[in-house]
Order: sequence, then C-alpha cells, then structure tokens
Amino acid sequence: MPLLHDRIDLRGLACPNRIFMAPLTRQRAKSPGDIPGELQAEHYAQRAEFGLIISEATQISPEGKGYPNTPGIYSDEQVAGWRLVTDRVHAAGGRIFVQLWHVGRVSHVAHQPNGQPPVAPVAARSKGFVVVRHDDGRRERVEASMPRALETAEMPRLIEDFAHAARCAKAAGFDGVEVHAANSYLINQFLSGSLNTRDDAWGGSIENRMRLLMHVVDAAGEAFGSAGVGVRLSPMGSVNDLPIHHDDEECMRRVAEELGKRRLAYLHLFHHHWGRDRWNGLFKDTLCREMRARFGGPVVLNGYGTDVAGAQGDLDGGLGDAVAFGKLAISNPDLPTRLAHGHALAPWDDTQFYGDDARGYNDYPRAQV
Ligand SMILES: Cc1cc2nc3c(=O)[nH]c(=O)nc-3n(C[C@H](O)[C@H](O)[C@H](O)COP(=O)(O)O)c2cc1C
Repeated sequence: MPLLHDRIDLRGLACPNRIFMAPLTRQRAKSPGDIPGELQAEHYAQRAEFGLIISEATQISPEGKGYPNTPGIYSDEQVAGWRLVTDRVHAAGGRIFVQLWHVGRVSHVAHQPNGQPPVAPVAARSKGFVVVRHDDGRRERVEASMPRALETAEMPRLIEDFAHAARCAKAAGFDGVEVHAANSYLINQFLSGSLNTRDDAWGGSIENRMRLLMHVVDAAGEAFGSAGVGVRLSPMGSVNDLPIHHDDEECMRRVAEELGKRRLAYLHLFHHHWGRDRWNGLFKDTLCREMRARFGGPVVLNGYGTDVAGAQGDLDGGLGDAVAFGKLAISNPDLPTRLAHGHALAPWDDTQFYGDDARGYNDYPRAQV
C-alpha cells in the first residue's frame, strides 16, 4: 500500500508525494476585478513541495461569484495575475491545478452583475450563508439571495463560460483544472435529487442531473486533455444546504462510473470527519470503495483535519491514492517535509482564514530544524 510520501503519477503528471494541498478560499484577490497577484504567488510558491497544489475556488464568470475577494479566471487581468502564480510555483518545482467554481444559488445580489438574482437549477433559496463586504471593508455573513432558475436555452452559454475559463487557465499556465462539483455549489446543485426537479434534459433523472458535470468536464478536457482534469465531489455531504436524497448514493456511483470513462487526472472526494458517525461509516465502508472501483483512476481523499495517521490508514485500507490537506496546509507550508521528518505541526489561526494581506497567509514559517 502506498505511503503518503510515495510518488504518484496522475495520468502523466509526476507528483513527488501524495500529500496534496486542498482548495482553500482565502478572499485576498484584488478588487475591483477579483485579480490574484504577488500575494497569492508567494503563498502558493511557499507550498510548492506538496505533491499537487489545488488552488482556491476560482469563479469562472462574474455570475459564478458568491463571496468577496475571491479570484476569477475569465478576464485578461486575472490570467496575467495567475501567470505570476503558476510561474512562481513552477520555478519552485511545484505543480498547480486551478479549481473552477460557480456558486449557483449560494450567492447574493451584491455579488451578481447588475444586482441580478443568482442562478440555480430551480428557483429555491439556499439556507446556506454567504458573505458580503461593506464599503468600510467589514465582512458580514448574510442569507443567500433568492435565485432564478436557469432557462434551458441558457445551458450552452453556461457550459461555454466553463470552457472559456478552462482556456484562460491554460493561458495562465496551470497544469490542469479541478471542476468543483462539491459543497452544494452549482454543479452539486444540479446533481442533487432533492433540489434539481427540473423537467427538461438537465434535471429529474440521475442521467439528466449529471449532464451538466459531464459537459463541463468535456469542455475543460478540450483545453487540457482529459488527463488535465480532476473533479471534486462531496458525496453525502450537506454543507451549504442540500438535503440528503434517497438516490444520492446511486447518483454518486453513476457519476464515478461516467467520469471513469473519461480517464481523468483524479477524482477528489471530500468527506467530513471520516468514519465518525453512521453516514460516514457507511460511506467509508461501501460507497467510497464502490466509487473508486467504478472510477478506476487515482482517487484523492480529503477531510482529516489533523488526523494524518487516519489519512495514511485510509490509504493502507485501499480507499484512495492520495490525500489533500486543507487546514494543515494553511499553517504548514512545508507539510510534506514536516511529515517526512516527524517535525511538530503548527496550528492554524482561523481568525485569519479570510483577510486582506500576508498576515495569517504568508507568514507561517517552515519548521526550524
Ligand atoms: C478556509 C477554508 C477555505 C476553503 N475553501 C475551499 C474551496 O475554495 N474549495 C473547496 O472545494 N473547499 C474548500 N474548503 C474545504 C477544504 O478544501 C477541505 O475540504 C476542508 O478544510 C477539510 O479538509 P481538512 O480537514 O484537511 O482541512 C475550505 C476550507 C477552509 C477551512
């Protein structure tokens, strides 16, 4: 069984270890324009020794935005900003995918072009929270706005927005893209049997509900080749308000199988607190294994907090091939080195998850040895 420190080949992309950096929104992009720059370049370059860096969620269009100061990947200025990031990461010997994001109904009119309602598969409001930023810089958690249902005729335009973002990602020098189909954002909303009751070709049956994801994956594949595309799912997770539905498990099995036909870079499974309650135990014992078997390619596991031994145990147990660490990657820029040498792990400061500058972002030191 592989060790976290063993190298892994993601369909041609050679990664020196299986300790990946999970996608982490940090809300420090420049406004107006949602543009990354030197601050982000320094941050990701500090973490170049991770087997793979998956960037913070990055909106594919202005409509895809739900939080303040999250970066985009659709304008020339954003591409130029991201180019600083990818050049620094590559110069430091690293590899980086960008996470392509559309929040769907988890948004607020304050973030939407011309104050329009956010879009969703159906016109049903999320009970999840979003964040807005006031003129004085203060961030506030607020209820998501009432969305409008996407029209059938708009779906090709939506897919083209993803395709455009993937082309921008290629131009910005990323090694690949991760399609964000987790955490109750737009693609997850379409997958959901509890929410997506549309009566056109994009909703209702499982086949219809996964149509958007497959189109997005194929569009991204046109820019990068399918080996440059990963997908993140949160099976049976319910962050941001997507009620559990009786066919969630079958949907996840079918999605894994359909993605497996495409020979993607990886399938990334985020699960909260692995194995700690009935649902999670069930997931670990059955669904995760079934999804891995149907996908047939590299599986990245995530959701361990500080439980590094548990993560290694799940690799030993054949649940996956690599592990993405989120909060530990925030506070340990040299996490692979620390784990290899048994150095103490630094705690993170959650009051600094979101901010404006390098504090709590680029000032976590490497281990002193
Ligand atoms: C500050 C913060 C920002 C996050 N941003 C994202 C994100 O942009 N995209 C995403 O898919 N998950 C995001 N997550 C979830 C993490 O990727 C990860 O799934 C979660 O932190 C659990 O992993 P961990 O236990 O290793 O931290 C975020 C989590 C945190 C704490």
